[in-house]
Amino acid sequence: MSNELKEDASIVHPSVQPLFTPFSIGKLTLPNRIVMAPMTRTFSPNGMPGADVAQYYRRRAENGVGLIITEGTVINHPSSADHPNVPHFYGPALDGWSSVVEQVHAAGGRIFPQLWHVGMARTAGNPPNPESLPIGPSGIDLSGNQVTAPMTQSDILSVIEAFAQAAGDAKLLGFDGIEIHGAHGYLIDQFFWKQTNKRSDRYGGDSFEGRTRFAVEIIRAIRNAVGPDFPIALRISQWKNSNYTAKLAETPEQLSSFLEPLTTAGVDIYHCSTRRFWEPEFEGSDLNLAGWVKSLTGRPTVTVGSVGLNEEFIRSFASGQVTQVTSLDGLIERLEQNEFDLVAVGRSLLVDPEWAMKIRNGRFGELNPFTVESLGTL
Ligand SMILES: Cc1cc2nc3c(=O)[nH]c(=O)nc-3n(C[C@H](O)[C@H](O)[C@H](O)COP(=O)(O)O)c2cc1C
Repeated sequence: MSNELKEDASIVHPSVQPLFTPFSIGKLTLPNRIVMAPMTRTFSPNGMPGADVAQYYRRRAENGVGLIITEGTVINHPSSADHPNVPHFYGPALDGWSSVVEQVHAAGGRIFPQLWHVGMARTAGNPPNPESLPIGPSGIDLSGNQVTAPMTQSDILSVIEAFAQAAGDAKLLGFDGIEIHGAHGYLIDQFFWKQTNKRSDRYGGDSFEGRTRFAVEIIRAIRNAVGPDFPIALRISQWKNSNYTAKLAETPEQLSSFLEPLTTAGVDIYHCSTRRFWEPEFEGSDLNLAGWVKSLTGRPTVTVGSVGLNEEFIRSFASGQVTQVTSLDGLIERLEQNEFDLVAVGRSLLVDPEWAMKIRNGRFGELNPFTVESLGTL
C-alpha cells in the first residue's frame, strides 16, 4: 500500500465502505457507523475527569470514530459507584466533562456520556462512599445473596431524579445525546432480571411491564429534562458480569414484551451488548441481538462484541476458550443487510486510537493487537 493512501483520510478501502456511510438519528448525523463502546477506565481521581481523559477521547475522534460513548460515569447518588476513580457526572466533575466535549467536538467527533448506577454490584464498604450501602430492587446481589433491604419508593424516586439531572446536564454541556446503562447486571438491569428483582409491587412481578417500570420512569424523566430532539440510547444485554449465560428473554416473543414499554417510553437507539456479534440470539435465525431488537422495535440498533479481535484476543477477554475466529467480513455483510445500523468497538479502539482510520484506509496490517497491559494506561 502506498504512503499516499496511508495518509489520506478521505480514502475508504472498498471492502469496508458500508462502515463509512453517514447515519442519522433524528437531527443528529453521524459521519460513519463506528461507535466507541463505553469502557470503564478508572483514570479520574476522586471522580474528576482531567485533561488526560479529554485527550484520550480526542485521539479517537481525531481518528475518525463516528460516535464516542464514554466510559460509565456515575449519577449523583451516594452508592452509584464502586470505585473512587470512576468519573462522576455531577458536581465539579462536570467541568472536566465540559473539556471532554470541547476536545471531541474540536476534532470533529460526536459524544454521549454513559450514565451509570452500579446498584447491588457495589461491595459494601468500598470507596468512594464506604458508608453507603448498595441499593437494588430487592437488596439481592448478583449471586442471589440478600445484602440490604429492597429499595423504597423514595430511593427509587431519588435515583430517577439523579438520572434525569445528569441527562439535563449532559445537554447543557453540549453532549450530542446520552446513553443509559441498562446492561450487564447493574442497577437498571437488576430491575429487569427476575433473579435480582423479587418485588411484588409495580416495579416487579412476573411481567416485563413491572420489571421495566423503573427504566420507563427514568427514560420519561430524562425525556422531560432534555426535550424531544436529544437522542436517548439504552444499553441492554442478556448477559450479566457475573453470569455470561443469563437471559432476560428466552424467545423473540419475550424479547418483544421486554422492549415494548421501553420503546413506548422513548428510547431512540438500542445498544445491544453481546460478547460476539456473530452469535445468533435465538434458534432458527442468524439474527444477533441487535438484529432482533431492530426488527422488533423498528428503532436503530448498535451491535458490539469482539469486532476486529482475532482468536488470540478473544482468548484473553473471557473464559480462556476460543470458540471462533472473527474478521470484519461477516460484520460488513450484516450491516449491508441492515441487520443493525451502528457497530461499537471496545478493546480494538482502546488499544489503538487510530483503529477507525486504519480500517477506513484498509491498513489492516497496521492494527495494534489488544493486550491486557493496554488497560494500564489511558
Ligand atoms: C476495560 C473495559 C471496560 C468496560 N466498561 C464498560 C462500561 O463502563 N460500560 C459498559 O456498558 N460496558 C463496558 N465494557 C464492555 C464494552 O463496552 C464492550 O461491550 C465489550 O468490551 C465488548 O466489545 P469488544 O469485544 O469490542 O471489546 C467494558 C469493557 C472493557 C474491556
